[in-house]
Amino acid sequence: TSAFPIISQEEVTTHRSLEDGVWVTYKGGVYDITEFVAMHPGGDKILLAAGGALEPFWALYAVHNQEHVLEMLSEYKVGEL
Ligand code: HEM
Repeated sequence: TSAFPIISQEEVTTHRSLEDGVWVTYKGGVYDITEFVAMHPGGDKILLAAGGALEPFWALYAVHNQEHVLEMLSEYKVGEL
């Protein structure tokens, strides 16, 4: 069981700007990364994934395939799909 609320894909897609919040999904988890955008080592590219899935982008930028990156992401979890 999980303490996180279930969030629809449709709701995630409404969060794709700094004004409306930047949410992404990864392996069934939903993350509000609004506060992280300005800290991202890869800069504004992170906004390409806003409102959708990280997987296609992280497949291209393998630098994310590290434990410390997943730990960072986990801090921003707000729900599950
Ligand atoms: C680098 C986190 C999304 C592109 C990094 C690094 C972290 C990070 C921690 C540095 C890794 C290291 O050097 O050990 C994240 C998180 C994301 C995210 C938490 C989503 C929540 C994205 C997306 C893209 C992207 C969607 C591309 C569309 C890059 C690039 C770098 C990078 C190009 C390399 C920057 C450089 O070393 O010059 N990211 N990232 N990232 N990220 Fe992301």
